[in-house]
Amino acid sequence: MAISIRQLTPIFAGEVSGVDLTKALGKDEVVALEAGMDKYAVLVIPGQRISDEQQQAFSRNFGPLENARGGNITKDTDKRLAEGMNDVSNLDKDGKPLPKDSRQHLFNIGNMLWHSDSSFRAVPAKYSLLSCRILNTNGGNTEFADMRAAYDDLDTATKAEIEDMVCEHSLMHSRGSLGFSEFTAEEKAMFKPVRQRLVRTHPVTGRKSLYLSSHAGTILGMTMPEARILLRDLTEHATQPKFVYVHRWQLHDLVIWDNRQVLHRVRRYDTSQPRDMRRTTVAGNTMTAAQAEAA
Ligand code: OGA
Ligand code: MN
Repeated sequence: MAISIRQLTPIFAGEVSGVDLTKALGKDEVVALEAGMDKYAVLVIPGQRISDEQQQAFSRNFGPLENARGGNITKDTDKRLAEGMNDVSNLDKDGKPLPKDSRQHLFNIGNMLWHSDSSFRAVPAKYSLLSCRILNTNGGNTEFADMRAAYDDLDTATKAEIEDMVCEHSLMHSRGSLGFSEFTAEEKAMFKPVRQRLVRTHPVTGRKSLYLSSHAGTILGMTMPEARILLRDLTEHATQPKFVYVHRWQLHDLVIWDNRQVLHRVRRYDTSQPRDMRRTTVAGNTMTAAQAEAA
């Protein structure tokens, strides 16, 4: 059966049928999915009962996987999943919901802020692929906002004003904005801010998009209050309902998004019950801005 894609909102996001991710994909299928990603920016593939190995093998069709190191505070000895998997569940090593006051749980709440995965890395991510292994039915929708449409909708003066702006992104900023601000010396070194352009251009389609994220805390050459109010205003603009697709999860959904073109966030859910979500991340291949000289 050939792959087909049905658009989910008037502007973006598509649902894929005619593909089985437990099997190796043919070249034509990979090309069709990548073209679908360029066009829709988010693809939902329902009914994919896959293992971690199958998820990784499928993800590698789109490029090498990102190393998860530097993206969380979980100690290696506390990790539930093998290397190559990003654990975005609310579970501890034994598969039990994390205690409400655990550092890991509090850090993970940051995923409820609008963000783009790995915008805190000098070379940020290409795609994220998220698989639903245990469904939590009480909240936990994931929302996506189309940053191409949000950019297009800006007025000419704002587009000109922000064209060459460069922001600094850090996990310390997103977490700090929620009052989670105690980091060890090792974490501070790991979460050192990186620079990202505020407007980026997609390498294939040439479309411009707003590159926002809760990790963005400063704009070079601007005072902090001016920078932060601009980032807040742009984020408010960019996440209006007309730019958003709300994903209501079903067990074994696999959702792929292009971090270069969309923002996402998970909504609050009942964290006393399991929600097992496993992510693979396809690495990007370029920086969006020159980085600061090492001190
Ligand atoms: C992620 C993420 C949202 C969710 O995997 O990058 O932000 O629904 N997850 O868990
Ligand atoms: Mn994320």
